[in-house]
Amino acid sequence: MTATVLVIGAAGKTGRAVTRALVERGVRVRAAVRPGSTSAPYASERAAPVTVDLETGLGLDEAMAGADGVYHLAPNVHPDEVGMARRLAESASRAGVSRFVFHSVLHPHDSAMQHHLRKGEAEELIRAQLPGVTVLRPAAYHQNVLGPAFEGQIRVPYSLDAPFTNVDLDDVAEVAARVLTEDGHEGCAYDLVGPERQSFRELAEQASRVLGRPVVAERISLQEWLAGPGSGLDDERRAALVAMFEAYDRDGFADESDDLAVLLGRRPTTWQDVLLRATS
Ligand SMILES: NC(=O)c1ccc[n+]([C@@H]2O[C@H](COP(=O)([O-])OP(=O)(O)OC[C@H]3O[C@@H](n4cnc5c(N)ncnc54)[C@H](OP(=O)(O)O)[C@@H]3O)[C@@H](O)[C@H]2O)c1
Repeated sequence: MTATVLVIGAAGKTGRAVTRALVERGVRVRAAVRPGSTSAPYASERAAPVTVDLETGLGLDEAMAGADGVYHLAPNVHPDEVGMARRLAESASRAGVSRFVFHSVLHPHDSAMQHHLRKGEAEELIRAQLPGVTVLRPAAYHQNVLGPAFEGQIRVPYSLDAPFTNVDLDDVAEVAARVLTEDGHEGCAYDLVGPERQSFRELAEQASRVLGRPVVAERISLQEWLAGPGSGLDDERRAALVAMFEAYDRDGFADESDDLAVLLGRRPTTWQDVLLRATS
């Protein structure tokens, strides 16, 4: 049993879900938030916020001291992902932390996407320092599409017919809690893909049926995305996301694997399940 886990990025979408899954298992969490963040980690008497700056390593050794396990996830498309991984692995190594889990991504060696290659590099760097690291490689989350589905409009700058095997974030968080608290996952890497292969057109059609109201999928141009959601990003992050959209347009983002079902010991959650859960 892992008694205390340091969760990095704890105030973000993934970190909050992982923290909740851990505290529901009775684990104490040190919820790492960045200095000056206005985002809040999952609230629980078992989750204590600690301040860590991943870019400088400030607060890392203090947060790590006495922790039994670490869940490391980097901020989305961060250019210094590899440096962050190095700081985390070295600090965990100094502290003698026995269990380290790295939140990577499906297809970490896809050369079409620089930010995927950085995940692959981070995996290798952590493994060199901590051979027992467990790596989780999730597909895109269903939760990325949930808000737009409820608003009735899913707008993406890539093909509406490309295939995706999106995964439920709560399933990913449950697996994270399992591999942090159960034995037998040291040195393993797991591909966490959802149980269905669906295009965005199909995701919208199913959302329409389940929610009982129109949900439209619309392809927008890259120019429209650049002038809208992409306009607030720095050049490096914008370029990373444009490369990702081009890869999604060409290939989608899909794979097959039984890892999720085996780790959960049940059928993974479907898009319909995610929608129904959100309406209940
Ligand atoms: N979204 C997906 O579908 C998906 C699928 C597979 C893998 N992933 C991977 O999952 C990871 C997390 O994604 P997410 O969507 O959960 O990200 P997120 O919601 O943006 O969370 C990232 C967290 O990191 C924090 N952070 C940013 N800079 C920091 C710093 N210098 N020091 C300490 N903390 C810092 C952020 O703080 P603030 O809240 O203050 O900004 C935020 O709370 C990413 O690496 C992504 O590639 C995502």
